Amino acid sequence: MKLNSLFIVAFLFLFACTSEIDSSTYLKTQRNGNVIAGKVQATLLKNVGQAIHKGGPEFAVEFCNLKAASIIDSLNQEYKCTISRVSERNRNPSAALSSAQEKELWETFQSEILNDTVVQGNKNLVFYKPIKMGMSACLKCHGIPESDINHTTQQKLHELYPKDLATGYTLGDFRGLWKIEFVRE
Ligand code: HEC
Repeated sequence: MKLNSLFIVAFLFLFACTSEIDSSTYLKTQRNGNVIAGKVQATLLKNVGQAIHKGGPEFAVEFCNLKAASIIDSLNQEYKCTISRVSERNRNPSAALSSAQEKELWETFQSEILNDTVVQGNKNLVFYKPIKMGMSACLKCHGIPESDINHTTQQKLHELYPKDLATGYTLGDFRGLWKIEFVRE
């Protein structure tokens, strides 16, 4: 346990040094990132939940999409940011990990040391926060094919996402990261 916390401190220190973000900027970005991720997550959950209720998972497939979250545009404007999601096992190929830095971060989050982080990207500050398979409803489209995911839904997913990597998850699994890029002022 002691060694573990020493490791975390060393890690955070290293991170803070290499990222060159002053602490007040870091905290502000972290706070905003959490607010934004929370709002989008809540909207997506509501949308997907309502759609499943209305027409089952096969109908709801289009609702786990940031385009379906009407608040995205206004949040992007309000916070001068770009909201996206990335994953090593992605469904939409555009959600792939996009840089060596991101792949490294992915490994870090996989070992579950951090709740979130802010890093200096190419130009902008980027906030990352893990997305978990937090509810059994997620498994209707990301769980085990033909057992959690019904046949019709699976066909639809296959049609829309022939290179889908985002199945076979179980409850609580690390599924992806919120990625929120802030224009640095
Ligand atoms: C009704 C089906 C369905 C349900 C239920 C569902 N998803 Fe998705 N999910 C999708 C589809 C379809 C995409 C691809 C959207 C796109 O094209 O951007 C996706 C994409 C994602 C992504 C973005 C990265 C990627 O792989 O493209 C994450 C993260 C994600 N889902 C997490 C969740 C979580 C967490 C839950 C439960 C709260 C959930 N999903 C529930 C269908 C679903």
